[in-house]
Amino acid sequence: MYAGAKAIFYALSRSASLKRLASKYGMAGEDSFARRFIAGETVEEAIQAARALQSRGLLLTLDYLGESVRTMDEALAATKEYVRLIDVLVASGIERNISLKLTQLGIDIDRATCVDNLRRILEPAQRHGFFVRIDMENSPYTEVTLAVFETLWQQQYRNIGIALQAYLHRTEQDVRRMNELGARVRLVKGAYKEGPDVAFQQKSEVDASFLRLMQLLLDHGTYPAIATHDEAMLSATRAYAAQQQIAPDRYEFQMLYGIRRDLQAALVAGGYRMRVYVPFGRQWFPYFMRRLGERPANIGFVVRGILGERR
Ligand code: FDA
Repeated sequence: MYAGAKAIFYALSRSASLKRLASKYGMAGEDSFARRFIAGETVEEAIQAARALQSRGLLLTLDYLGESVRTMDEALAATKEYVRLIDVLVASGIERNISLKLTQLGIDIDRATCVDNLRRILEPAQRHGFFVRIDMENSPYTEVTLAVFETLWQQQYRNIGIALQAYLHRTEQDVRRMNELGARVRLVKGAYKEGPDVAFQQKSEVDASFLRLMQLLLDHGTYPAIATHDEAMLSATRAYAAQQQIAPDRYEFQMLYGIRRDLQAALVAGGYRMRVYVPFGRQWFPYFMRRLGERPANIGFVVRGILGERR
């Protein structure tokens, strides 16, 4: 069931007609169904959402949505959008923290170009004190994402971090690899459809892996981010940190925009650092479909949203 729902929504995410339908209705009005998960299609809407989060004591990272670009021009356009985003965020006074994906910057076209594009973003980001997190995509990209990360790390960029997925069998080694570098890791369960050759298929196995890796990161990592909405994972993290006398300012929690806002508020009230991942932009469909795949009950929002729009 855990892997099954992801597989169905992954297949649907590749449907051009569903994408057209969703794009028409999903963000059309103030209360359209995709707005629960996406802060808006423009940077101005994202900043407005970010301000509201900041006023509630939440930290944030902004993600300009996009992935799997097919041409150099598209990759360059996404790069320029990120550079523009940095300028706009500096002017807005919003927290300086962004997340991005390598397939957005052209990793499928040419690795050297992708590294150049990432450097084009990291330069102004470093100058303005931004932290840049590289999201982790599906398993064909794991090794190349780590390799690109290490290339930039060797070039002395220290304003970067990476995400690692607990569902992959390989991740314990990758956590150790990043811990040795002293790099900041965001630990997630993993959002893509992966086969049994590379990934755990049962929720219980993924959760057990998440807990092992959380401990490895708290013990030996550099300011790790524990990114989950799972209450069992959250309380195990808090308990382990307390037991090891790791102060709450040596790590942070992260959650996605619009998911478990009650838990987000409770963590802030409890004195923990809680960062919200705020996605925005017109290319929201694949991100949105992954959120449905994680919790098929969310499909109810979509159906109600579409019916509501048409009435
Ligand atoms: P789990 O899926 O077990 O859910 C636990 C509970 O959380 C559910 O019972 C429900 O209450 C709530 N919940 C979870 N997902 C929900 C949803 N979509 N809608 C409503 N409620 C939901 N993945 C990846 O592969 N690469 C990446 O780079 C990132 N980056 C990232 C950043 C941040 C800040 C977060 C929080 C997550 C990611 N992810 C990710 C996604 C991650 O891999 C995972 O798919 C989701 O976080 C859902 O898993 P949980 O840990 O929440 O547990």
